[in-house]
Amino acid sequence: MWSDARRRVPILKAMRTLDRSRQLQQRAEHLLPGGVDSPVRAFRAVGGDPPFVVRAEGAYLWDADGNRYIDYFGSWGPMILGHAFPAVVEAIQQAAAHSASFGASTPAEAELAGLIKAAVPSIEKLRFVSSGTEATMSAIRLARGFTNRKYIIKFEGCYHGHADGLLVKAGSGVATFGIPGSAGVPEEIAHFTLALPYNDISAVEAAFAARPQQIAAIILEPVAGNMGCVPPHPGYLAALREITKRDGALLIFDEVMTGFRVAHGGAQQLYGITPDLTCLGKIIGGGLPCGVFGGRAETMDMLAPLGPVYQAGTLSGNPLAMAAGVATLGHLARNCEAVYVNIDETSRLVAEGVADVLSEAGVPVTTNRVGAMWTWFFTHQPVVDFATAATSDTARFGVFHRAMMESGVWLPPSQFEAIFLGTAHTPEIVEATLTAARQAVASLHEAQPAR
Ligand SMILES: Cc1ncc(COP(=O)(O)O)c(C=O)c1O
Repeated sequence: MWSDARRRVPILKAMRTLDRSRQLQQRAEHLLPGGVDSPVRAFRAVGGDPPFVVRAEGAYLWDADGNRYIDYFGSWGPMILGHAFPAVVEAIQQAAAHSASFGASTPAEAELAGLIKAAVPSIEKLRFVSSGTEATMSAIRLARGFTNRKYIIKFEGCYHGHADGLLVKAGSGVATFGIPGSAGVPEEIAHFTLALPYNDISAVEAAFAARPQQIAAIILEPVAGNMGCVPPHPGYLAALREITKRDGALLIFDEVMTGFRVAHGGAQQLYGITPDLTCLGKIIGGGLPCGVFGGRAETMDMLAPLGPVYQAGTLSGNPLAMAAGVATLGHLARNCEAVYVNIDETSRLVAEGVADVLSEAGVPVTTNRVGAMWTWFFTHQPVVDFATAATSDTARFGVFHRAMMESGVWLPPSQFEAIFLGTAHTPEIVEATLTAARQAVASLHEAQPAR
C-alpha cells in the first residue's frame, strides 16, 4: 500500500532531455555490441536511455545534453575521492608528461606497493596487473600452482571478473541478465569450479569432505557486492579460514570492490581475518586501469621469473596508473581515520534515509550496508545470499531507477550491484538525494500502483 502522505508529494516534472545521448547511443550501437564496452552500462535491466557522460567533478556527472547527476556508482567503485580530485589529476598529468608507458620497471611501482602493503599487512609481496579480472585469474593460477590441486570453490552471486573458470553462477552483469554461466566456457573448465551458496558453511564442509586435498582455493568477496551488497554472517569468514587451513587449501579474498572501501585495510581488517591471497583493483588505480594480487612471500615467489607459475602484462604497473594510485592511496593513508568515518556516516544517512522514504510509501525494502557500499533490495526478506537477493522485485527497482535518474540521481543500473559514495558527497548532496527519493517514490506510485 502506498501511504497517503507519499501520495501528496508533488512530482517535479522538470523533464530531462536525452536527445544527444540517444544519438550517441545509436552511433555506438553500430560500432559496439549493445553500444557499450561493459554490459550493465546499457541500462537494459532498468530501462531508459543511458546518458553519455562528458565530464565529472566531485560527486557530479554531466551528460552530453548538459544534465547533471549525483553519482552513486563512482565508476563502479574507484572514485572514492570524487571525480577529478586535484592531487590525482596533477599526478596523472605529471606522469603523462614523462611518457604514458615504458614497459620497464619504474620507482612508482614500489611506492604504490608499499602503500598497499602498509594498509593490507597480509600482503607481503604483490604483482600489479591491469584489471580486477586479471588479478583474480592470476591468483587462481597461482593457488593451483602452489597447491598442485585443480578444484576451486566460488560462491553463487559473487563476481570475480570474466575469466572462464570464474563465470559460473557469477554475480554482477551475469546475475543482472539471468545468465547461469557464459556461452564459450567449456564444460571441462567449468567442471573444476564448485559454486556454493554464500553464507552457508555446511555446503563448504560438504564440498571439502567430498574432495579432500583436491581443492586448491576458496575465492570469495568477503563482503559480496555483485549480487547487491551482502555481508558475511558472523563467524562465516573465520570458518572458511579454519576449513581451508585444515585442508591445505588457500583462502583468496577478492577485495577488488571492498579493498580501501569498507575500511582502509579492506574487509580483512574489518573482520580480522588473514587470507592467503588478496586481489585488489578499482580504488588502487585512482580511476586508471589497475589491479593487484598479493600474499605471503613464499606463495608469491612461485611466480615467474622466480618460480614456475607464469604471469605477465605489457601494461602492468603502467606509470599513469601507478601515479594515480599513489596519489589516491597516499591521500587515504594520510587521512585514513577521517575519510572512513566520514563516508560511513554519509552512507548511513543516504542508505537509511532513502530506505525510510521507500518504507513510508509502502515499498518493501531490505537495506544491506557495510560502510560506503550498500543496496536497497526491493524485497521484504533478509538478503543473505543470491537466492534471497533474487526475490527482489527487479521491475519495481527499474521504475525507481528511472525516476531517480529523472530527479538527477544516478544509481547503478541493476538491482544486483552495490551503491557507492565517496568523500565528495556533502550533507547538501545527501539532502538533495532524499528529496529526489521522495519525488521518485511519488512518480513510482504514479507509474506502478501497489500490487
Ligand atoms: C569483486 C570483484 N572482483 C573482480 C572484478 C573484476 O574487475 P575488473 O572489472 O577490473 O576486471 C570486479 C568488478 O566489478 C569485482 O567487483
